[in-house]
Amino acid sequence: MNAAPYPATRLRRPRATAWSRAMHRETVLTPADLIWPLFVTEGTNVEQPVASLPGVSRWSVDGIVARAKEAVALGIPCVALFPNTPTAARSADAAEALNPDNLMCRAIRAIRGACGDSIGVLTDVALDPYTSHGQDGLLDDAGYVANDITVEMLVGQALVQAEAGSDIVAPSDMMDGRIAAIRAGLEAGGHHNVQIMSYAAKYASAFYGPFRDAVGSSGVLQGDKKTYQMDPANAEEALREVALDLAEGADSVMVKPGLAYLDIIWRVKQQFGVPVFAYQVSGEYALIEAGVAAGVAAREALVMEKLTGFKRAGCSGILTYHAPLAARLLGA
Ligand code: PBG
Repeated sequence: MNAAPYPATRLRRPRATAWSRAMHRETVLTPADLIWPLFVTEGTNVEQPVASLPGVSRWSVDGIVARAKEAVALGIPCVALFPNTPTAARSADAAEALNPDNLMCRAIRAIRGACGDSIGVLTDVALDPYTSHGQDGLLDDAGYVANDITVEMLVGQALVQAEAGSDIVAPSDMMDGRIAAIRAGLEAGGHHNVQIMSYAAKYASAFYGPFRDAVGSSGVLQGDKKTYQMDPANAEEALREVALDLAEGADSVMVKPGLAYLDIIWRVKQQFGVPVFAYQVSGEYALIEAGVAAGVAAREALVMEKLTGFKRAGCSGILTYHAPLAARLLGA
C-alpha cells in the first residue's frame, strides 16, 4: 500500500486562525516607519487642496506646525517639507533657495519652535521650487543642467536649512558629487549632527506629476529631467549611485519612486546593509486614490498592503502621503 497522497507539510495549517497568522507574521509595520511629506505655502490660515492629489493640501506655516503636532500625536517620527515658492521669488539663478528667510526656513523654524526635538524635520535640497524653469539645477548657455555650479548652490541651500534647524537634509537633485560637498559644508558650518538622506537612486519617472503641481513647477517645467535622473531600465547603475553617496558621507539612502522599484530597494539592502528609505511618490498615491474612487478595493486595505511590501523589501521607512492614515490604522 502506498502512503496516502497527502502533503507532509501543510503551509495552510498556521494560516487557519487570526491569532496564528499574527504569530507567524514576518513583517511588522509601525508608525515609526513613516515619514510624512508636507507642502508649505505663503500666508496665514491657508489650506489649498492639491487637485491632482486628493486628500493632500498645501498649508501655510501655521498649518504646517499643526500637521507636525498631529504627526507627533500619531507616532510619526519625521515630516518632509517642500515649499510652493511664490512665482515672483523664482528666478533663473534660484537665489531664493539661499534666502535664510524663505518659506522652507520659516517652516523649519516654526516647527522647531513649537515641537522642539519631539519630531524630525527632513528638508528637500534641490533647486526646482526656486528656478523659473522648474529644473533641479542651474542651466548653462545651451540649456543643460550644469552640475558643478548647481552643487555650489545646493551646499548653500543645505546650510540655510541646517541653520534654520533642519535635522536631515535630503538632496533630491541627482547632481554628481553633491553629497561630499554638502557634508563638507555642514561640517565646516558646525552642523556635525545634521544627517544627509540621499535620494541616491532617483529615477526619471512619470509618477512625479502631482508633486510638480503641488510645488508649482509643473506649469513652468521645460523638457524633462532625463539628463540627471536615472533611466528606469537601470539597476546596476543604482548600486553605483548608492556606493558613491555612501562613500561621500550619506547617512541613509533613498530609492524613488517606490512600487515599481522594489527590486532596487532589495538589492541595495542586501548589498550595503544600510538604512534604505523609499519614497512612495505623488503619482503612486494618486493612482491608489483613483483606484479607491473607482471601487477597486478599500483604501485601508490597499494602503496597508503596499506599505507592508516596502518593509518586506528591506525599507527602514517610507515617505508616503498616506502616513497619517496609516498611523491611525496602526492604532497610534
Ligand atoms: C524634485 C523632487 C521631486 C519629487 C521630490 N523632489 C519631483 C521631481 O524630481 O520632478 C517627487 C515627489 C513626488 O512625486 O511625490 N527635486
